[in-house]
Amino acid sequence: MGRPMDVWKSIAVVTLLTASGVGLADVSGMLKLCTGCHGEDGRGMTADMPIIAGLSAIVQEDALYGYADGNRNCGTTPMMCKSAERLTEDQIVELAAHYAAMPYVAAGEEFDAALAEAGKAIHDRDCAICHHAAGSGDEDEVVLHGQRKDYLRYALQQYAAGERMQLPAMAKKISALASEDIEALVNYYASYRN
Ligand code: HEC
Ligand code: HEC
Repeated sequence: MGRPMDVWKSIAVVTLLTASGVGLADVSGMLKLCTGCHGEDGRGMTADMPIIAGLSAIVQEDALYGYADGNRNCGTTPMMCKSAERLTEDQIVELAAHYAAMPYVAAGEEFDAALAEAGKAIHDRDCAICHHAAGSGDEDEVVLHGQRKDYLRYALQQYAAGERMQLPAMAKKISALASEDIEALVNYYASYRN
C-alpha cells in the first residue's frame, strides 16, 4: 500500500538532488546494495535480517553510524558494516528516511507461548520503560515488538557479551539476564502482532 510510490518518490528525489549537484549521485546505487539484503520492502530477504521498514530515521541513522565506526558488530554479515562504512552523512540521512517512510509491520513469526509469557514478565520489569511497541511509545524509540527472532537473539547475545555499545542503564539490566531469559524475551517480542 503506497510502497511502490515511496520508492519512485525517493528515486525522483535522488535524481533531483543529483541534477542540482548536491552530490548524492550514488544514493540510488547504494539503495540497490541495501535492497539486496533488506528487500525493496525493508522486511529482509532472510530471517536473520532485521526489519528496517518503519523504524524511525534517527534509530536507523544511529545504527548506521554504529556499524560504520565499529560500535556495532556485524557478526551475521560483515557486508552490513562494509556498506555503512561507504556511506556519506547525506546518504545515511537519505537512506534512513527512505525506509522510515514505510509502515512497520511485525514479522509475525512462530513463538513458544510459555516462553513468551515468561518473557513478557521480564520485559515489563526491565525493558518496558524504554521499549514500547511501534506507535505506542516515543517516536524515536527502538522497536523490539515484532522484530525478527534471529536478529534479536543475536543482538541480545552481543549485548550480554559486552560486544555491542549500549546505554549503561540497559547494560545493567542485560548483564543480569540468564540465557533462558534472553530466549524468553525473544519469544515474547516474536509473539507481537500488529
Ligand atoms: C549483506 C547484507 C546487507 C546489506 C548489503 C545491508 N544490510 Fe543492513 N543489515 C544487515 C544485517 C544482517 C543487519 C543486522 C546486523 C547486526 O546488527 O548484527 C543489518 C542491520 C541494519 C540496520 C539496523 C537495524 C536495527 O534494527 O537496528 C539498518 C538501519 C540497516 N541495516 C540499513 C542498511 C542500509 C541503509 C544498507 C545499504 C547501504 C544496508 N543496510 C545494507 C544486512 C545487510
Ligand atoms: C534506559 C533505556 C533502556 C532500557 C532499560 C533497555 N533498553 Fe534496549 N535499547 C535502548 C537504546 C537507547 C537502544 C539503542 C542502542 C543503539 O544505539 O544501538 C537499545 C537497543 C536495544 C536492542 C537492539 C535493537 C536493534 O534493533 O538494534 C535490543 C535487542 C534491546 N535494546 C533489548 C533490550 C532489552 C531486552 C531490555 C530489557 C532487559 C532493554 N533493551 C532495556 C534503551 C534501553
